[in-house]
Amino acid sequence: MDKILYPAQYEYLRQFKDSKDPLILEMEKYASEHKIPILDWQSAALLEILIKNANPRRVLEIGTAIAYSSIRIARNLRKKGIVHTIEKSTDNISLAKVYVKKSGYDDKIKILLGDAFDLMPTFDRKYDFIFLDADKNEYSKLFKLSVALLKKGGMIVVDNLLWHGHAAAEKVPPEYKTSTEYVRNFNKEFMVHPRLKPVIIPVGDGLGIGIKI
Ligand SMILES: C[S@@+](CC[C@H](N)C(=O)[O-])C[C@H]1O[C@@H](n2cnc3c(N)ncnc32)[C@H](O)[C@@H]1O
Repeated sequence: MDKILYPAQYEYLRQFKDSKDPLILEMEKYASEHKIPILDWQSAALLEILIKNANPRRVLEIGTAIAYSSIRIARNLRKKGIVHTIEKSTDNISLAKVYVKKSGYDDKIKILLGDAFDLMPTFDRKYDFIFLDADKNEYSKLFKLSVALLKKGGMIVVDNLLWHGHAAAEKVPPEYKTSTEYVRNFNKEFMVHPRLKPVIIPVGDGLGIGIKI
């Protein structure tokens, strides 16, 4: 992933990288070697702090991949906290199950196989915290479904809002033009949503954080 910070700052901050957990390091290595996009380590550290502080009972994640962020969420949940995580790729789910088992948080992480568009409208209970990290061209619709499922006062976190730096760039490589347009349009929507107090911060790949008002 291209960094949105100046490289020197990123490298400087790297010395403070929080997680020395062997499983987390193994998953970061696996994701990097197999080009599976997972949450940047600084965003993951921030997500853990937000979870710890918000102390949610029910968390929804859209986009499990190999369950890297699911595990980082789960290990900060209160005793009866649970994270429901949606993933449509069966390959990713197989791996996610292995890692969740290894993590020992299988009682806190419930993996839901399917497309979020099919699953989310069937949920009858709301969530205290939602982490949206799926395909960027679907963000707008998934965000609407997410806000509807979020309790008042609940928090939503959305990843990749600076989109490898392209969201703010004057020149965007042709292969990123369409996705960048999606992210730019989404950011406008996110920042003016009438039910949200929002901010986008330059950590990792750009993290959107909002509280439902
Ligand atoms: C960026 S990865 C998730 C990374 C993960 N949150 C982490 O940080 O460890 C995005 C994942 O979302 C899944 N995905 C994308 N659109 C989806 C949808 N509509 N329903 C369910 N899963 C979806 C993809 O298959 C992919 O595994």
